Amino acid sequence: MTNIGVLASGRGSNFQALLAAQNRGEFPGKLVVLISDKPDAGALSIARENGIKAVAILPKDFPSREAHETAVLKALEENSVELVCLAGYMRIVSGTLLNIFHGRMLNIHPALLPAYPGLHGQKQALTNGAKVSGATVHFVDEGCDTGPIIIQAAVPVEENDTEETLSARILKEEHRIYPMAVRLYCEGRLKVENRRVHILPPGQKKGEGK
Ligand code: GRF
Repeated sequence: MTNIGVLASGRGSNFQALLAAQNRGEFPGKLVVLISDKPDAGALSIARENGIKAVAILPKDFPSREAHETAVLKALEENSVELVCLAGYMRIVSGTLLNIFHGRMLNIHPALLPAYPGLHGQKQALTNGAKVSGATVHFVDEGCDTGPIIIQAAVPVEENDTEETLSARILKEEHRIYPMAVRLYCEGRLKVENRRVHILPPGQKKGEGK
């Protein structure tokens, strides 16, 4: 079982999707802690209601970005977290966390990366007239939504779409592919070579065979 920590700033629907998938036994991992930088994040309530440790670590309580991240790192380590899932975490993760969790941190983004990174991926797709958009789960690196891509799902952009309707269509796919990516990670089936993530067949683990 892989111990998983989730970092979230908002309503927490992706966290909830991971929780539901865990409860259905869809990945060999256990959500052990939810950490938020916002005291009123919906994700914190979802964790509490489901008996998962919920920790608010607020930037305003720390003298610097680094000190805040060190506190987050400490909370992850105290809970023996092996994999970190960012799920609507609205902060750039820097060296303090990345050095320790490099290759062990995933993110979900509401666009087909490398298109439309950063904030408001859905709005960017609309304003650029894209006919197709979607969701991406990727490893986190030093850049903003630039890490190696694990899984993507595409959705059509409809003629009458608003940011809300497109976001809802994409969110459905987010909830479907994030647990799939976590499963592949927990099964040791993700092999990163340069920028490409190879998905190994079931039963084969990283470092085994060819
Ligand atoms: C999602 O659209 C995710 O792709 C983005 O932030 C949003 C978080 O939503 N990174 P939720 O808090 O998981 O509902």
